[in-house]
Amino acid sequence: MEAKIGLPKKDLTKSIDDLTVVLANEMILYVKTRKFHWNISGNSFMELHKLFEMHYDLLAKTADEVAERISGLGGKAIGSMKDFLKHGQLEENTKESNTQKQMLDELIENHQTVMVNIRKAIDEIGDKTNDVVTEDFLTDVLKMHENISWQLTKYSN
Ligand SMILES: [Fe+2]
Repeated sequence: MEAKIGLPKKDLTKSIDDLTVVLANEMILYVKTRKFHWNISGNSFMELHKLFEMHYDLLAKTADEVAERISGLGGKAIGSMKDFLKHGQLEENTKESNTQKQMLDELIENHQTVMVNIRKAIDEIGDKTNDVVTEDFLTDVLKMHENISWQLTKYSN
């Protein structure tokens, strides 16, 4: 169903397509952060165990908001792991074990990839469409990633 919010179809399509990539990335990162929450060990075990929980809660909430924005724009939210991996830009972590440092490095790297993509989406949506609400929404998502990244970086050396 096409959304009747005063935006032409091409604007809706652009935002839906960009938000779909964001949704896929958030979900891949959510699953990875959860895996690391379950398997973290080392001298910062309890702190990182709790920090990762805080982060995957934020990622889950964000994924939900992204999916509902897609729906609000008249799109269909993808919802299978297969689709997340197809549309997302991140790799799953399938290793049997990861050190504390490997976990932190991979998360920081992934958040960075996500942020580069979101900045590009904000730029393009600003240039090519009048969808200022999606631009504003993505700026909040970006802010969350910057904050998570800052916290993770404080643990890595
Ligand atoms: Fe838990």
